[in-house]
Amino acid sequence: MAKDKTLFTCSECGGTSPRWLGKCPACGAWNTLVETVAEAGPGKNRLSAPQGYAGLAHAQPVMPLAAIDAQDVARTPSGIDELDRVLGGGIVEGGVVLIGGDPGIGKSTLLLQAMDALQRAGLPTLYVTGEESGAQVALRSRRLGIEGSQVQLLAEIQLEKILATVEATQPAVVVIDSIQTTYSDQLTSAPGSVAQVRECAAHLTRMAKGTGIAVILVGHVTKEGALAGPRVLEHMVDTVLYFEGDTHSQFRLVRAIKNRFGAVNEIGVFAMTEKGLKGVSNPSAIFLSQHAEPVPGSCVMVTLEGTRPMLVEIQALVDTGGPSPRRLSVGLDKDRLAMLLAVLHRHAGVACMDQDVFVNAVGGVRISEPAADLAVMLAITSSLRGKPLPRGFIAFGEVGLAGEVRPAPRGQERLKEAAKLGFSVAVVPKANAPKKPIEGLTLHAVERVEEAMNVVRGL
Ligand code: TYD
Ligand code: MG
Repeated sequence: MAKDKTLFTCSECGGTSPRWLGKCPACGAWNTLVETVAEAGPGKNRLSAPQGYAGLAHAQPVMPLAAIDAQDVARTPSGIDELDRVLGGGIVEGGVVLIGGDPGIGKSTLLLQAMDALQRAGLPTLYVTGEESGAQVALRSRRLGIEGSQVQLLAEIQLEKILATVEATQPAVVVIDSIQTTYSDQLTSAPGSVAQVRECAAHLTRMAKGTGIAVILVGHVTKEGALAGPRVLEHMVDTVLYFEGDTHSQFRLVRAIKNRFGAVNEIGVFAMTEKGLKGVSNPSAIFLSQHAEPVPGSCVMVTLEGTRPMLVEIQALVDTGGPSPRRLSVGLDKDRLAMLLAVLHRHAGVACMDQDVFVNAVGGVRISEPAADLAVMLAITSSLRGKPLPRGFIAFGEVGLAGEVRPAPRGQERLKEAAKLGFSVAVVPKANAPKKPIEGLTLHAVERVEEAMNVVRGL
């Protein structure tokens, strides 16, 4: 078989070059040429047909949407409840899942546990390891207490060999650990390069769709927090899961950021133990740092991502800064922090211009919802004044540029969860205040930032 030729294609204009060049010869853009495979054979991908297209290809049958049998996708629960929750019920036939996260966070551990559970449930599985040797994976399985596991293992990084093995062994689920170590013979670039990652993922996706085999790809995260390699990977797959959490703490979150077969922003919570990852079915209080006495700069909020409310402590430290004070946030959006500081100054008269401001969401969680705004502001003010918020205090609500406090979705549920965990004072947006009082919770409903500051000063 003639080997497919490699070409370098400009991601801006589609122009091609047989060699890699810094500058695209067609459009002049810099650093846009990416290695691609040009399929052997004449006329492929060329869409210019002066005599019409009938000579190039046969017309394909079409049918109305109503005539298509819309079966619900068949899902197989992985046997790990917290993982099934983020997957939307389980592994889908022919579905492709990308699971990303920092090194050492537990991707391989979770997948090995899941594969073992699936194998025990009678599903043939294949675990392809490119990062570790078979012996290392076996060692991990001993640690996990699944040494008798029948999960099939393949230590291989060449895509063509992996695909041939999959074809020969016909598993129901394949794990590729990781997509960055996999390389295709068709390309000359190194494993882990944009071109290799994209090409390998495209082949594996095509295989999954063609055969109904579910594929789980492990991806690394770059320092910037994006999945290494092209973002295009995220478009190619059906589901994107992200591992979050502080590797130094015990808890890990798995978040669905895209899911064609289920809800997004659902989260699964795990604890890393001596014997692998264990699901935490009631996670609402794990992100609190349990101070003996209230301390300045700490404010608890209730987040609601997915279906479960969780209490998360937001910490702030405001300290005298140098000539260009720093603004740093961990687990919260940095731009949003700058915005909130401006709103604080303008609408509540709290100035941090000459101060370093650090904010942190405890336990390595990432909070993307704006409902954290009010808690961030209260934590900052509390640190600046050196005055702790009262014991059992929570706050949540989005803050707008005009200083208004906007409601958070499903406020009642958040408040109920806080009350259940013994919180007794809450500052919340007016529109979130329930009509009936919640037992044990004193509510302060506010419409503006300055109002919230006044309420807190009087507590
Ligand atoms: P791993 O799954 O190898 O991470 P990734 O594949 O995301 O790089 O996770 C390894 C970490 O988890 C490592 O630091 C050791 C720890 N660990 C446990 O604490 N308990 C266990 O049972 C196992 C298997 C790993
Ligand atoms: Mg790993």
